[in-house]
Amino acid sequence: MRGIMSTDGYLTFALGKGRLAKKTLELFETLGITCEEMKDKDSRKLIFVNEDLKLRFFLAKGPDVPTYVEYGAADIGVAGKDTIMEENRRVYEVLDFGFGKCRMCVCGPEHAKDLLKHHERIRVASKYPNIAKDYFYNQKHQTVDIIKLNGSVELGPLVGLSDVIVDIVETGSTLHENGLAVLEEICPLSARMIVNQVSMQMEKERITGLITNLKEALQK
Ligand code: PRP
Repeated sequence: MRGIMSTDGYLTFALGKGRLAKKTLELFETLGITCEEMKDKDSRKLIFVNEDLKLRFFLAKGPDVPTYVEYGAADIGVAGKDTIMEENRRVYEVLDFGFGKCRMCVCGPEHAKDLLKHHERIRVASKYPNIAKDYFYNQKHQTVDIIKLNGSVELGPLVGLSDVIVDIVETGSTLHENGLAVLEEICPLSARMIVNQVSMQMEKERITGLITNLKEALQK
């Protein structure tokens, strides 16, 4: 079961919907890789093809990108490091695009700092339960209760659902406007390129060529 993977001569890209996809396509354009079809905002089409370069693009929900790539439904994916860490799929991470920069942090009200310091059994709300679990259990050796949320995670400490949150901080304004602060930094994040492990062997030249060209374009 190889789906539509490279068997037909096309390289297939899964892009996480939204800002990352837009930035990625802008970067690809500087390499002469264009996909006019995709720019039509009214279109409900899901898959776009560049026949000349034998490339195919589709837009997926961010957290699904590593899934498409692991199973070979896409040869290449672009997703945030947060998603890649959380999904923990068997894929190669080959390139840091350097855009979409932000940080994964433990956040909460200032007074929650003591709870972290004293390794109390606290409640941690997050859209990223695996990242939260790995950080508290494996890095800090602190037993906590993790509560999975799907968005607006900052609400957790505000309404008394959790003591702290593990979430993405970009400008910090969401935290600031809600009286919360960064308490600990887990890791820096940015957009990354991931590759299916079989595609990397079968299409080695094409994919490594693309990575080289992208690296050059990123340095400009
Ligand atoms: C993300 C993140 C924070 C916010 C951080 O949420 O979860 O809430 O952005 O950005 P800032 O530091 O610049 O304020 P997103 O907008 O993706 O929506 P969500 O809360 O529904 O996940």
